[in-house]
Amino acid sequence: EKTIITDKFNRPLRDLRISVIDRCNFRCQYCMPADQFGPDFEFLPRSALLTYEEIERLGKIFVQLGVKKIRLTGGEPLLRRDLPILIEKLAAIEGLSDIGLTTNGVLLPKLAAKLKEAGLKRVNISLDSLDDELFGKINGRGIGTGPVLEGIQAAKDAGLGVKLNMVVKKGLNDQDIIPMAKFCKEKGLELRYIEYMDVGSTNGWKMDDVVTKKEIYEMLKAEFELEPVDPAYFGEVAKHYRYKGTDVNVGFITSVSESFCSSCTRARLSANGQIFTCLFNGNGHDLRNFMRNGASDEQLFGRIAEIWNGRNDRYSDERTAETNKNRKKIEMSYIGG
Ligand code: GTP
Ligand code: 5AD
Ligand code: SF4
Ligand code: SF4
Repeated sequence: EKTIITDKFNRPLRDLRISVIDRCNFRCQYCMPADQFGPDFEFLPRSALLTYEEIERLGKIFVQLGVKKIRLTGGEPLLRRDLPILIEKLAAIEGLSDIGLTTNGVLLPKLAAKLKEAGLKRVNISLDSLDDELFGKINGRGIGTGPVLEGIQAAKDAGLGVKLNMVVKKGLNDQDIIPMAKFCKEKGLELRYIEYMDVGSTNGWKMDDVVTKKEIYEMLKAEFELEPVDPAYFGEVAKHYRYKGTDVNVGFITSVSESFCSSCTRARLSANGQIFTCLFNGNGHDLRNFMRNGASDEQLFGRIAEIWNGRNDRYSDERTAETNKNRKKIEMSYIGG
């Protein structure tokens, strides 16, 4: 039996983003800058992480509360040991229609086939530049595009749906906007341009660093013929266009210039079992200790319903260059974007 719960703005709970680990093998400037996430940075100890059994248990309860779609994130989710085992458990939950994963792609050659077999449907792979040197600089680890391109190919070969995410930052990789479009159109891959966001407090975000959807769209229009595509479902994050005469889409994630909070149906579960009701709300609600102290399924259900009922976040709607300064925020690598 499904219960429909809604928050203060009448938004249902539909998607759950689960971070399975806070570590990453990259140090992207806009997410985990190397100077702040150095060798001494204290990541969560293994005992703090939810076990796969705990994630499965919570997953079932979330589905009873209306969740249809689960996305696994990190840090880098493929760094978590035996991830296909978790996917298999989640894929067996009745009532769930979609399981996706967001990754930097470098471990996909090793894991794509196993993930697919376990029940994963799609992967979103981050790639911010086709230029090896610049890409190495952005990811903070000097890793060229080769390993990611191999990951993309491995995912396609395994039969996974593949989309590419490109975070655009002014003066950094805006010259790659058109080359990335050409590359993805050619390969039949959906590319989503992501407006650089003021997540966390380590990336030094400034409004001036943002390249807006409108700016990118104008650049694309000078090169390609585009037609708008309707959203696939209520609350879809990206806005889409199609290259005329093809079946290839291109999308925009406009968190800064055209916020989409009014249709935000996403809850986030951190690797250590806290629920966050917004990417920009640093007040997590613990479920792990509650669970480890013996809470029943009914109690967990009640707790999650209560948290969702009380939700009134709409950060991106309210954002101005000023609001971003005085908030307690969470790092993207901890909450998975
Ligand atoms: P699908 O539409 O299921 O393919 O995935 P997605 O776009 O929701 O997930 P993905 O992990 O690929 O995220 C792409 C970008 O959208 C990332 O930069 C996320 O941080 C951003 N994003 C996803 N959900 C939200 C949200 O609720 N609020 C904001 N502000 N950004 C979001
Ligand atoms: N702004 C926008 N997107 C970001 N991501 C990471 N940090 C930021 C940021 N500051 C993206 C990653 C990945 C997705 C989960 O979030 O590139 O594609
Ligand atoms: Fe790692 Fe993704 Fe953050 Fe880059 S954006 S540091 S790949 S979690
Ligand atoms: Fe949802 Fe918060 Fe993002 Fe708005 S800013 S879309 S409420 S996660």
